[in-house]
Amino acid sequence: MAQTAKTADIKLVSANDVHTYAKPDQARVTHVDLDLGVDFERKVLTGTVTLQVQRSPQAKGAPVILDTEKLTIHKVEVATRTGRFAPAKYELGQTDKILGTPLTVHLPAMGNMFRVRIAYTTDPSASALQWLTPGQTVGKKHPYFFTQSQAIHARSWIPLQDTPGVRVTYSATIKAPHGLVALMSAAGNSQSRTGADPKGGTRTFRFRMDQRIPSYLIALAVGDIAFRPLGKRVGVYDEPAAVDRDAKELEDVEKMIQATEKLYGPYQWGRYDVLILPPGFPYGGMENPRLTFASPTIIAGDKSLVSVIAHELAHSWSGNLVTNATWRDFWLNEGFTTYLERRIIEVIYGERMATMQAALGRQILDRDVAKFETRDQVLHINLDGRDPDEGSNELPYEKGSLLLRHLENTVGRASFDRFLSRYFQHFAFHSITTQDFLNYLEANLLKQHPDVKAKVPLEEWIFKPGLPASAPVITSDAFAKVEAEAKAWSAGKKKATELATQDWTTQEWLHFLKALPAKFDASHMRELDSAFRLTQSGNIEIIQQWLLMAIRNGYEPAYPRLEQVLTTVGRRKIVKPLYEELAKSPAGKQRALAIYAKARNGYHPILSKEVDAMLDYKASD
Ligand code: BES
Ligand code: ZN
Repeated sequence: MAQTAKTADIKLVSANDVHTYAKPDQARVTHVDLDLGVDFERKVLTGTVTLQVQRSPQAKGAPVILDTEKLTIHKVEVATRTGRFAPAKYELGQTDKILGTPLTVHLPAMGNMFRVRIAYTTDPSASALQWLTPGQTVGKKHPYFFTQSQAIHARSWIPLQDTPGVRVTYSATIKAPHGLVALMSAAGNSQSRTGADPKGGTRTFRFRMDQRIPSYLIALAVGDIAFRPLGKRVGVYDEPAAVDRDAKELEDVEKMIQATEKLYGPYQWGRYDVLILPPGFPYGGMENPRLTFASPTIIAGDKSLVSVIAHELAHSWSGNLVTNATWRDFWLNEGFTTYLERRIIEVIYGERMATMQAALGRQILDRDVAKFETRDQVLHINLDGRDPDEGSNELPYEKGSLLLRHLENTVGRASFDRFLSRYFQHFAFHSITTQDFLNYLEANLLKQHPDVKAKVPLEEWIFKPGLPASAPVITSDAFAKVEAEAKAWSAGKKKATELATQDWTTQEWLHFLKALPAKFDASHMRELDSAFRLTQSGNIEIIQQWLLMAIRNGYEPAYPRLEQVLTTVGRRKIVKPLYEELAKSPAGKQRALAIYAKARNGYHPILSKEVDAMLDYKASD
């Protein structure tokens, strides 16, 4: 497998990541070797990590600085490349609320290559970790555990250099209770070991990731997990009772990989599997290499939400192969991926579908530009003093993707596809800044197409708030028809049952609901509900939109469903807007607090931290 193609000719500008204590220019971690036990009773991981460290010859005598968050450090040892381990001098520095605690490990005065072995235990409230009781799983019999390391949560379960600018290979030995299966974003997820095993004790799983990845892509899940193949290099994992349904829903994934390879070059990671997690998973999907983690809410039953998988798969090029060097450059990951996602959807499900999704994206972008402070409307966002999770709203996705569309429209699809394909090849297995992208663009696209500079205001797109006046407008014929129906109903010209909704897709339904006036009376809500049974919808995007309307318009028949959604689903993008909408009125805020008290236990710490702040919730535990 192509590992570090032509490292020598790649000149990168130096990145300054404000979200790490590490000084990789002095001493850099190159490999992470984990040996961890999973303790469901205490809700901790405990064991050792052995880090390979390379010190720059210019940084004579320098220590290695690691990021940690709420870790209990039992012992730190250092060895030269081949020598024996000996206790090392180390210090834990001052704790910052966002960055955690630096761990400085002193290294011998002589030499450039070291091994640092740290024995440690995580905290039960570690920000990357979610521990589920059997009741929070599908099968209700076994507990479940998983990590979510992006953006800066890897440090809460592994002491390492937690910056996307540092890439490492990794290996791991994981001990899980018998009957449970451990899976990682690495090679070693063996289908044959899934399913219940008869013997007691613990079971040991071994993993290797031989390609260099940033720390935020290290991932682990442990549960009662089964496997279904979807092709030679593709498969899906989930709890045994759910995995057949997933397999049907995800049957197009191999086709998606082939479509992306045709556009942007070979898939570089070997296998591509998807792990469908319990509903408390905080994201629609997370692009952990070789093993995308995904929310069960994307399994709608009609493939209408599988664009989330197209998105996570696309990260195998934009994000995992070519990675943002700092969280300031996040749009390089998500803007590119959103653009790729829609190109994949176009190949597999047609232009009509891809255009509807792009049009919905453009609406979200316009809404966010109208709503956000100007500093949050900038692609090259300044996150100094802020938690990078705060920057992870939809703006970098949609504005970044629209910029690429603007470039594509200007130079033509064939040229732009060639450019992107070469870009992925050129920077493969590297972490790059916005400036690196701009330099590459200048040399490899703008030179050949001198008119682009006049037509695409790059400076404004990337460094300024708002949208350039020349930003592409996206028109969907399908949506024009939907708008006509929405208008006819709102104006009282048609009853709900008379609307031409027969072959509407999820995207058309979403657009219809969003095209209705923000406020109307509850009797109209009732009319829509009895015509289309929206409160019963099993589609998470539709139900979210409907519940937002129900809260806004005081439509009480939907309240039990609202509570049911908030107490079962832990997906940030679905849950947060619902609490936000509730919190707009004093009575709504009371209801939000009552529901939240029941729901909070099922949420990942990343989400509960945000909802705590939003509702001024004081945790009693
Ligand atoms: N990498 C993101 C998820 C993420 C971003 C986690 C920032 C932590 C910090 C993932 O690829 C993603 O974008 N997921 C989206 C789905 C996508 C289709 C827009 C989500 O979860 O909603
Ligand atoms: Zn993404």
